[in-house]
Amino acid sequence: MRKIVIFASGSGSNAEQIVAYFNKENTAKVSLILSNNLNAGVLNRAKLLKIPSLVFDRQAFYHTNVVLDILKNEAPDLIVLAGFLWKFPEHIISEFPNRIVNIHPSLLPKYGGKGMYGNFVHQAVIDHKEAESGITIHYVNENYDEGAIIFQAKTEVSTNDTAETLAQKVHLLEYEYFPKIVEQLLEKN
Ligand code: GAR
Repeated sequence: MRKIVIFASGSGSNAEQIVAYFNKENTAKVSLILSNNLNAGVLNRAKLLKIPSLVFDRQAFYHTNVVLDILKNEAPDLIVLAGFLWKFPEHIISEFPNRIVNIHPSLLPKYGGKGMYGNFVHQAVIDHKEAESGITIHYVNENYDEGAIIFQAKTEVSTNDTAETLAQKVHLLEYEYFPKIVEQLLEKN
């Protein structure tokens, strides 16, 4: 059985969709959810979904091998960042080449980079009067939102969209495509 480890910092609705998808498909399982945020909604979801979870801090992530060793021990086929807001450190990326993927709620390279997450992205898209936005699934490298693009999907931005309504549209795209793309990547690995 293929193994997925998810990193998430917030609500974790994408994490939940991925868990639910693979519970149904049975082609892989989410074996662990890791978070940098003790108050993240994803931890409650993990409990309800009966997926083990762990919280780590900056020191453990960037300056020790604690998180790296957890990952080595878990030996996932794919590491999936689903709303994870910290930059991934080089010493972890180099141990898992082409095995770490992120989802970003815009059509990269537009509206990526440090500080661009969640509704900050959607507000910037609206402020720039973009006609479309969407999702990007990409490999993770040592720069924010710059790894090779695997998949994109688009949605229309209407003149009366707010950051909240656009976020809803983008979330629907994420729920539709992210689990399937993860499955395809696992098949290739
Ligand atoms: C998602 O829309 C994801 O694309 C975005 O955070 C949201 C998390 O929602 N990620 C980023 O902005 C990364 N820069 P969720 O916690 O409900 O899955």
